[in-house]
Amino acid sequence: MASEHKSSEKKLAGKVAIITGGASGLGEATARLFAEHGAKVVIADIQEEKGREVAESIGGGGSSSSHHHFVKCDVSDEQQVESLVKATVEAHGQVHVVVCCAGVISGQDQDILNLDLDASDSLFAVNVRGTAAMVKHAARAMVDGGVKGCVICTASVTATFGTALKIDYAMSKHAVLGLVRSASIGLGKHGIRVNCVSPSAVATPLLCTSMNMPEEEIDKVFEPFNVLKNGEFLKPKNVADAVLFLACDDSKFVTGHNLVVDAGFHPNH
Ligand SMILES: NC(=O)c1ccc[n+]([C@@H]2O[C@H](COP(=O)([O-])OP(=O)(O)OC[C@H]3O[C@@H](n4cnc5c(N)ncnc54)[C@H](O)[C@@H]3O)[C@@H](O)[C@H]2O)c1
Repeated sequence: MASEHKSSEKKLAGKVAIITGGASGLGEATARLFAEHGAKVVIADIQEEKGREVAESIGGGGSSSSHHHFVKCDVSDEQQVESLVKATVEAHGQVHVVVCCAGVISGQDQDILNLDLDASDSLFAVNVRGTAAMVKHAARAMVDGGVKGCVICTASVTATFGTALKIDYAMSKHAVLGLVRSASIGLGKHGIRVNCVSPSAVATPLLCTSMNMPEEEIDKVFEPFNVLKNGEFLKPKNVADAVLFLACDDSKFVTGHNLVVDAGFHPNH
């Protein structure tokens, strides 16, 4: 059970957080950091075994009454998302923080001349529809419970510039940014903040699988595009730190914001 922080330093003590995509990569790192900061973490993912392992490794148990636990949920299915939120409220009374990290990238090139629209629809079902469903149902629960909560989505540096390949991914992340900006307006009057993080390349299973490269190679391929040269590579924990900032009172007056975590990444640099 991870608990490196003294109770006075715990930024999410007593908070209930749902993290979609929490079985792997950025979501997993966020789940670990949130647990260290005193949150009760519900990991929602389609990867059942991995999700349960992460929940157990941060001190969770197998049942919904455990401090941390796993719920199998495909975010592209609105009913599953609604049930996830309902079950969380039943188990823990409230939901204070939701992090939408579930996401996919196409296995094929997906340049405009060869855009496979069926594959693109499947990607949009997770990255856009899934994120919108999560924001909608989390926000409804927060409004119903009178919770001035936080929603943090995961966009990408490709939310603000075009790409030659994987254009459906870039399109979907532009949509996530639009969702964040729009939802922050609709939910502001309820005291609910909606923000996103936009990482550049991080060597997670998503990127390693899509580029068919090990972590070390991915790090080296993208580092030359960084303006910031601090001798390090961007890691999931660095993104999780930014998510934590947006989830806690340190960012009390921040909403509708796109927090870029990219070492100054520029594709034409
Ligand atoms: N890794 C990067 O370079 C990078 C950069 C910018 C943004 N992102 C975004 O960060 C988020 C997390 O990606 P990651 O890099 O950690 O990848 P990852 O593959 O390690 O994690 C993504 C998780 O989402 C889950 N998932 C996929 N489809 C799902 C669905 N339908 N329902 C529920 N869960 C589902 C997967 O099972 C996996 O556990 C994604 O939205 C991704 O687009 C990643």
